[in-house]
Amino acid sequence: MPAKCKFCDRPAFIKLHYPRMYLCEEHFKEYFERKVRRTMERYKMLKPDERVLVAVSGGKDSAVAAYILKKLGYKVECLHINLGIGDYSEKGERYARRQCEKIGAPLHVVRVKELLGHGIGEVKTRRPTCSYCGLTKRYIFNKFAYDNGFDAVATGHNLDDEASFIFNNIMNWNTQYLAKQGPVTPAGFNGKLVKKVKPLYEVTEREVVAYALASGIEYEIEECPYARGATTLEWKEILNQMEEKRPGTKINFVKGYLRKRHLFEAELKEAELRECKVCGMPASGEVCSFCRFWGLKEPIDFRVKRQ
Ligand code: AMP
Ligand code: FES
Ligand code: ZN
Ligand code: ZN
Repeated sequence: MPAKCKFCDRPAFIKLHYPRMYLCEEHFKEYFERKVRRTMERYKMLKPDERVLVAVSGGKDSAVAAYILKKLGYKVECLHINLGIGDYSEKGERYARRQCEKIGAPLHVVRVKELLGHGIGEVKTRRPTCSYCGLTKRYIFNKFAYDNGFDAVATGHNLDDEASFIFNNIMNWNTQYLAKQGPVTPAGFNGKLVKKVKPLYEVTEREVVAYALASGIEYEIEECPYARGATTLEWKEILNQMEEKRPGTKINFVKGYLRKRHLFEAELKEAELRECKVCGMPASGEVCSFCRFWGLKEPIDFRVKRQ
C-alpha cells in the first residue's frame, strides 16, 4: 500500500526525515511555507512594510525565495545579474524572467559585460573566477538596493549551503568568516550596507527542490562552468551522508553554530571601513575592492527610472 499523508487521506508526495513524516503535496506546501515564515519571524528578517530586493539567479533557491516572499505578502522586486558566462547566463536570465512573470514581481536586469566591458571568466587576472564573480555580485546586489532605496536584499541560500559553508570554514579554521555568518546581516555604514536576509536558512535543498516541483516553478539546473572547485559539493555530500544516518544533523549543526558564534568574535579583525574614493561605498582601503578590481574611475549609478 502506498504511504498516506500524515494529515489527510491523499497519497504521500514526500517522505520527510526530520521530523519523520509522509506528506501529500498540499500539506507539504503548507508545511514548507510555515517553516519559512517562522524562520523569518525568529530572526526578525523583514518588517511587513519593508521593500525587499530578491537576487534571482534563475536557479531553484532564489526562485522559491521570491515566490514565497511574494506569497507571504511582502513588497518584492527582483534583480538578476547576467554574468556574461555564455549560454549558461542567457538561460539563467530567461528562467529569471519566467519566474518573475509567474509571481508578478518586477525584474531588474544588470548585464556585467555591458556594464564593465568583460563578462565573468573573460578578465585576465590571477584571482580565481569565482572569487571576483562573488565580489562583483555582492557589490551590485548592495549598490543596486542602496541606489533604489530597498530596505533589504534577500538571497536563496538554504540550510545545505549554510551547513557546508560553516563546515568548510571550520575545517580550514577561517575564524574570521565564522564570526559573521548568519541568517541576517544588519544594515550598517549609514545605510550604505543594506540589510541581507536568507529566508530559506532552515529548509534543506531537498525540500526546496520538492517545493519548486509542487508549485510548478521552473529553473535552471545547469551548474556554472566555473562552479567553485568541488570542495563545497564534497562537504555537502558528507553532510548528506550524516543526515541520512542521523536525521537532524544539518539543522542542529547550524543552530549550534549560531549559539556559539560569539566565541569567534575575538577573531574579528574588522578593518575600519571608510568611503571608497571612487564610488563612496564602504571600503577597507582607499578604493573598494569592486572599483579596484574593475579599474573604475567613476561610480556606477544603478538608479532605475520610474514612470
Ligand atoms: P551562489 O553563491 O551561486 O550559491 O548563489 C547564492 C545566492 O545569490 C542565490 O540564491 C541568489 O539569491 C543569488 N545569486 C547568485 N547568482 C545570481 C545572479 N546571477 N543574479 C542574481 N542573483 C544571484
Ligand atoms: Fe560566479 Fe560561477 S556563478 S563563477
Ligand atoms: Zn495531506
Ligand atoms: Zn568603490
